Amino acid sequence: MLSIFTLGSTLLLPLLVEAAGYANLNSMGLFRRTSCSASLPASCHNTTVETDLCCFEAPGGSILQTQFWDTNPATGPTNSWTIHGLWPDHCDNSYSEDCDPSRDYSSITDLLENAGATSTLSYMQTYWKNDPNDGSDEELWEHEWATHGTCYSTLEPSCISGYSTGEEAVYFFERVVGLFQTLDTYQFLKSQGITPSSSKTHTQSSLLSALKAASGYTPAISCSGSDLDEISWYFNLQGSLIDGTFLQYNAPSGSSDCPSSGIKYLPKNNDNDV
Ligand SMILES: *[C@@H]1O[C@H](CO)[C@@H](O)[C@H](O)[C@H]1NC(C)=O
Repeated sequence: MLSIFTLGSTLLLPLLVEAAGYANLNSMGLFRRTSCSASLPASCHNTTVETDLCCFEAPGGSILQTQFWDTNPATGPTNSWTIHGLWPDHCDNSYSEDCDPSRDYSSITDLLENAGATSTLSYMQTYWKNDPNDGSDEELWEHEWATHGTCYSTLEPSCISGYSTGEEAVYFFERVVGLFQTLDTYQFLKSQGITPSSSKTHTQSSLLSALKAASGYTPAISCSGSDLDEISWYFNLQGSLIDGTFLQYNAPSGSSDCPSSGIKYLPKNNDNDV
């Protein structure tokens, strides 16, 4: 009996999605595939000029998966960092923003719902949180897409055959969520004995060493005053953001922005007012 239901939903969902106009995206995630060659160099690793920027991310080939640790007010689950974004910085650490205002979509929620990307949307509702003092979650998603998402060369509409308005943003949100799920900063720290505390203090080097020991790579961390509140994990991209491979690398030294000692990793208990 179970297999009949499973088969039924497997067949039905792609048809519903197709009816909505996204023939190559299913509700389970990315479905569209590019024909980018696996022999292309990774972004920022080319030795000659790459001309097909649908398959080679440029100039934003240094990709930062940024996460928040918001404690005042606390956002998201108490045992997880939350998503800030996925930023295509240039290989020299400069960056572009707001690359195509004509694609500043007015409802990311509608785009994801219409594409059948409901599991991505519900994940975002839990893990991609705005500071309520700054606005709604939807406003953060719109900002992240408009400011950073529109700068991906490999997500240009002209790269996508049979393009439907907004579909590249759906791919962006799917990839951000998928990558974030592999970067559980809370568990990385916990595995090294570092858990939130309102009294304990840390050095910058001990936090970076713990994160490297747990994940294999050194991220960059940021603080608000002496409170740890943000992290960036660094990647290059081989192929297109639609279906390419993220290749992690160590944050350049000096990219962290915290005091060298006395850093607090505060609990998300809404009780951190001093
Ligand atoms: C790599 O390709 C990009 C995009 O075409 C280009 O701007 C850059 O100069 C290239 N780098 C090298 C070392 O050729």
